[in-house]
Amino acid sequence: MKRTTPVVPAEDIRRQMGYCDELRALNARRPVPPLAWVDTYGCQQNEADSELLRGMLCEMGYQISDTEQGADVIVINTCAIREHAEQRVFGNVGALVHGKRRHPDQIVCLCGCMAQEPHVADRLRQSYRHVDLVFGPQALWRFPELLRRVYLRRGRVFETEPSDGAIAEGLPVRRSGKLKAWVSIMYGCNNFCSYCIVPYVRGRERSREPEIVLSEIRALVEQGYKDITLLGQNVNSYGKDLEGEMDFPALLERADAIPGDFLLRFMTSHPKDATEKLFDVMARCQKVAPCLHLPFQSGNTRVLAAMNRRYTREGYLEKVHALRQRIPDIVLTSDVIVGFPGETTQEFEDTLSLIEAVRFDALFTFIYSPRKGTPAAELPDPMPKQEKSANFERMVAVQDRISLEKHRAYIGSVQRCLIDGTAQGPDGGLTARTPGNRLVHLSGAPALIGQFAPVRITGCSTWALSGELAR
Ligand code: SAH
Ligand code: SF4
Ligand code: F3S
Repeated sequence: MKRTTPVVPAEDIRRQMGYCDELRALNARRPVPPLAWVDTYGCQQNEADSELLRGMLCEMGYQISDTEQGADVIVINTCAIREHAEQRVFGNVGALVHGKRRHPDQIVCLCGCMAQEPHVADRLRQSYRHVDLVFGPQALWRFPELLRRVYLRRGRVFETEPSDGAIAEGLPVRRSGKLKAWVSIMYGCNNFCSYCIVPYVRGRERSREPEIVLSEIRALVEQGYKDITLLGQNVNSYGKDLEGEMDFPALLERADAIPGDFLLRFMTSHPKDATEKLFDVMARCQKVAPCLHLPFQSGNTRVLAAMNRRYTREGYLEKVHALRQRIPDIVLTSDVIVGFPGETTQEFEDTLSLIEAVRFDALFTFIYSPRKGTPAAELPDPMPKQEKSANFERMVAVQDRISLEKHRAYIGSVQRCLIDGTAQGPDGGLTARTPGNRLVHLSGAPALIGQFAPVRITGCSTWALSGELAR
């Protein structure tokens, strides 16, 4: 298939696998197998990347540990989306210096989106000298080569040059779950929303070949996975760099045709590219879960234009209407930013009224955080912090009320849920997910985990439903 974006040649991947073999042989000489710990911040894309990092570490002869205690290799896979996320990483990476003093052979790696920010790389170079290896998301597939360099020469390695990125196939993966799996269908972002760092750190949009994606899904279903989420920063751009008719709705329809009892989810959808064709396919496909995450960011058209979102308030509402005409009980979730530079409280009222008009099932709410290098960070931002926080609190209260009302409407209904685990906390019990991905608590035997079962909903809170097996 012809494409306009680059693919890493198979021989380059083979070379990386060769470095894995070499390190595995070195590690095999140790008295006990060395341990590696991968800590992940940020979005599902990063979770999926960490599964590749763990896959490569296993090939290099490391055992995966779930704690930093005693780890020979530590990998911190970071997120740059907001200031708070970065501060947490710097705090936690700083604290690793003590462990490294006790264990001087330990290798500390920092990768992911923060690594690709020049000011972060500089700060790590100067003030975090216990960090041995720093590499950005576009260099992920070269992790074996980079780790080997540190391992053999004990010098620091920084692989943080800006890069548009390429598709790397055939890397080993070690998945964290047995029921739920992530499948990246594309990488990068071309949208350049004015507040967002992602296009600068994740490179240009590039799609995986549909046949490779579909065979990965097929293999997951054969292995017993029941809940598969297709990932991309804007899945609706899928296939734009591939020749032929392949777009996201077409890919979804082909994934739906794979035999087996499983659910397909996807995220994220940019509203400007969410088409009626997509909604038609969602309505028609049995395995596509009845939920959509459709970030609106603001309910005010002037603010949306300043954000470079390329849709209006009315355009967004029309999309929601078109979707609900086809799938009336769709579970709708969204992201919203409060306090974008120059947003007035009056403009913020439009965000509140959009929330009331749409009645989302759940919202991911953020206070604007300036990101160095993005256009919004240069805009005047006169609103005091307290006013932004007050607006934020008002918005959260509105959504909490709506979430609770929406959850109450489930009471008495029977939902076909995937029983997916045991609950944490003193009460124990099982957890399950409705087809629309709402969390359900119920009691039952752990042997049920992994099954779809009818659950009668008997109670709820703002955050979750509770119920009992209905058979
Ligand atoms: N690609 C996805 C979003 C990825 S980031 C999309 O376009 O929908 C997840 C969310 O973080 C965004 O939807 C936005 O609401 C929020 N976000 C991104 N940059 C931000 C910033 N600088 N400050 C506050 N929130 C931000
Ligand atoms: Fe960021 Fe916008 Fe791209 Fe989403 S679509 S990752 S918000 S630039
Ligand atoms: Fe964060 Fe990078 Fe994801 S900035 S939200 S980990 S794409």
